Amino acid sequence: MSRLVILSNRVADLRKTSQSGGLAVGLADALRQRGGVWFGWDGETLRTQPREATVEQIGNVRMISAAMTVEDYMDYYVGYANSVLWPLFHYRLDLVDFKASYFDAYQRVNAHFAGLVAPYLEEKDLIWVHDYHFIPMANALRRLGSRQRMGFFLHIPFPPPDLLAASPNHRFLVECLLDYDVLGFQTTTDTINFRHYLEEWGIGEVVDDRTIRFNGRTITLDRYPIGIDVDAFSQMASEVPEDVRIDASRRAQLGRRQIIGVDRLDYSKGLPDRFQAFGRLLAQHPELEKQVTFLQIAPPTREDVNAYGDIRAELEGLTGSINGRFSDFNWTPLRYIHRPVPRETLAALFRVSHVGLVTPLRDGMNLVAKEFIAAQDEEDPGVLVLSQFAGAAEDLEEALIVNPYDTDTMAEAIHRALTMPLTERLARHGALLARIAQQDTHAWLAAFLADLEVEGAGAGPRR
Ligand code: G6P
Repeated sequence: MSRLVILSNRVADLRKTSQSGGLAVGLADALRQRGGVWFGWDGETLRTQPREATVEQIGNVRMISAAMTVEDYMDYYVGYANSVLWPLFHYRLDLVDFKASYFDAYQRVNAHFAGLVAPYLEEKDLIWVHDYHFIPMANALRRLGSRQRMGFFLHIPFPPPDLLAASPNHRFLVECLLDYDVLGFQTTTDTINFRHYLEEWGIGEVVDDRTIRFNGRTITLDRYPIGIDVDAFSQMASEVPEDVRIDASRRAQLGRRQIIGVDRLDYSKGLPDRFQAFGRLLAQHPELEKQVTFLQIAPPTREDVNAYGDIRAELEGLTGSINGRFSDFNWTPLRYIHRPVPRETLAALFRVSHVGLVTPLRDGMNLVAKEFIAAQDEEDPGVLVLSQFAGAAEDLEEALIVNPYDTDTMAEAIHRALTMPLTERLARHGALLARIAQQDTHAWLAAFLADLEVEGAGAGPRR
């Protein structure tokens, strides 16, 4: 079996389990299973460029990480990655901030990171690059002479061709993607968008749904929906800490049900729309007074990007106005936590909640949806309300699927979730649990690596 080398901007601390969702946790699960190497940014910024990476062996995983300069952090991470690619790929052209200096930094940091990791690569390695920060990584490594098979997985959506074309660098980005041997996306829509782009711009040849020819090479393209380690998460959820148990039993005494949402405080997550739907629910169903509370956990993220400050101010305003309008001395309908919460606590909170709200305006997959399902008590499960624009909606059909822009319908779906009879909850949850168990981290890893690890591998193109 070839050694697996994973490259991603964000790496997880493998000694801690208490990190919430997203790419780093998914990759940590995958790497713990198989072992290998993980390279990425160590989260630090320095005044001068580090010339070497730091290497550390943790169990069966070799962690290689490096800091970046403050300037690179501002222009590559805050700039190109999170002020250009993130909004662009989440269909938010209004938030995109193109600057030539951002694009320069994006190429520079990819080339620099490629140079730092290259000395650690071995001829037979399988190289698997993750997410939008590192699109040019294969290109940068090939320039340094790497000939290994290389795969790329995009954790976020791939936008339709017309949106992508708004970027001055769209052709560069797509040609960099075509430097990989295997290209993975989360959903069917993403793969269609990618193929349409190639057809519209006359780049390469789309041979069939899974195969592209470009510059004499063959590239495999597919959808590989990311999953979670279902058993580990449900085990974690069943160990409910004392404070969560006490809080839940007090609510049970009062006959109150809990709605929960857990998202990084990101504009793509649709939080203002969700808060408004909760307000609408209370306004339209006065009988729910003191019967329901909504707990939203939204840890801070990317605070150096302007758009994230705006969303925070908006949510704080909405929380105040909803609570001001509906609260009583013994009831706070909406509790909003803007701090990170340990993963173990989140798992337990999912388990003691009756409704999970996962209503992004656009999302690659959304692993919180899968975590909420895995955390439920199988004999008395809660109900998932899921946006049609989360990648997870392609498979999680038995959730209550909503359009997050449609406040009235979303409010009604929450009401339906709160009042759903046990038999229907059991049927829906059983089907959802089977689905996430079938599409778990192991399946995701196996499917992608099966395409990357072909017979006689190790002979990618040379530049
Ligand atoms: C999303 C992205 C990941 C990213 C994560 C956290 O899940 O797909 O690539 O690591 O958000 O964002 P951050 O900017 O903190 O790495």
